[in-house]
Amino acid sequence: MAESDRMDKLVSLCKRRGFVFQSSELYGGLGSVWDYGPLGVELKRNIKDRWWHAMVRARDDIEGLDAGILMHPKVWEASGHVAGFTDPLVDCKHCKNRFRVDDPRIKGKPGEPDAQCPGCGTKGNLTAPRLFNLMFKTFMGPVEESAALVYLRPETAQGIYVNYLNVLQGSRQKVPFGIAQIGKAFRNEITPGNFIFRTREFEQMEMQFFVRPGTDEEWFEFWRHERMTWHASLGVRAEKLRFHPHGADELAHYAKAAYDIEYEFPFGWHEFEGIHNRTDFDLSRHQAHSGKKLEYFDQERNERYLPYVVETSVGADRTALVVLADAYHEEAVEGETRVVLRLHPSLAPIKASVLPLVKKDGLPEIALRIYHDLKLRFNTFYDDGGSIGRRYRRQDEAGTPFAITVDGQTKDDATVTVRHRDTLAQERVAMDRLAAYFGEHLGA
Ligand code: GAP
Repeated sequence: MAESDRMDKLVSLCKRRGFVFQSSELYGGLGSVWDYGPLGVELKRNIKDRWWHAMVRARDDIEGLDAGILMHPKVWEASGHVAGFTDPLVDCKHCKNRFRVDDPRIKGKPGEPDAQCPGCGTKGNLTAPRLFNLMFKTFMGPVEESAALVYLRPETAQGIYVNYLNVLQGSRQKVPFGIAQIGKAFRNEITPGNFIFRTREFEQMEMQFFVRPGTDEEWFEFWRHERMTWHASLGVRAEKLRFHPHGADELAHYAKAAYDIEYEFPFGWHEFEGIHNRTDFDLSRHQAHSGKKLEYFDQERNERYLPYVVETSVGADRTALVVLADAYHEEAVEGETRVVLRLHPSLAPIKASVLPLVKKDGLPEIALRIYHDLKLRFNTFYDDGGSIGRRYRRQDEAGTPFAITVDGQTKDDATVTVRHRDTLAQERVAMDRLAAYFGEHLGA
């Protein structure tokens, strides 16, 4: 299967099965904003829960935070985003489209008469490149004037920096320690695309780890390996993951060193997590712009310093695309093509489906009892519509790891068939052991 077909098939499965829909589709869609349907919202929640568990609950040295999306506008001056979070863009005076200056479809040099617009094809209408800020602006309060201008945050990290002393004081942590946050971020991307890969509204899962200057390189190494291990624990195939160290020309304005974690998507290798050594760039800028001291007093060493920060920053939506793309498989089963999402059980939106073999002989009643019992602990789905084969296929496409079939034998010996999504193996399990069985197999 060609990789572009694979992407098209994944996008269509996501719509068909209720993972992801185009935003405002009823009105023709809104560019690069996507809505998560019933299965998608469960998948993304499971990803975020796994991240929160690994980064906050399972560690003693990281605290959680949920800061506001709107922040004081000076935050973005201090962070360098007002001046530096820009892309060089060119406008077409004829068709009014805007392009990145490095768009390979542009022929000639923008601003000169021979430059050709990739949108409308006219020559001489492309402006010379201008810097365009990627932050969304809005107004706070009733007056639309520049004094009320605020930005939708383009990263969640700044909410952590401006709260770092609050968290430190309230939590009794000592450096080294971290603060983690999951939340929405917004960027007016000029070349969004590839489904949920690059969107204008997205969720980030970010952690800022505050360390003593001089120990930052060691922690940077620690966190980049830790994060790679986490991705592998989601079941993502190792050969599809790699590190990409940033060269000097690629580093963001705040970083001394950076590694991307990349995945081989159907459209090529791309970043979905960044590990950054941000030094004391952000804290020193906030200290200077706010006029408030942000130093840490290290009692053991009897010294004051501004901590350095090692950041891990991963997109929840991009991770969803990674696990979906990695899980999508087509295979021939009994002369038919089976489409299956081999999602890790901990990420699967539905853990088990309960299916009476036929809609009579008391089987639906037994199946419903099992369903109501199990759904108290696991996200379970009841389905009695259509042939058993079709019901299996629907659950394979939803990535459900187990199907429980209630059949004639159930009435004789109180056992059911448990079908495994990936191997198609079937085994008989006693009805009263099902909760324990899934507890073992789902790690719940
Ligand atoms: N605080 C650092 C930071 O924001 P970044 O490399 O710009 O660093 C981190 O973004 C992660 O956020 C990316 O690896 C990606 O997963 C996600 N991300 C960034 N821009 C995105 C967009 N337009 N759409 C979806 N995800 C995005």
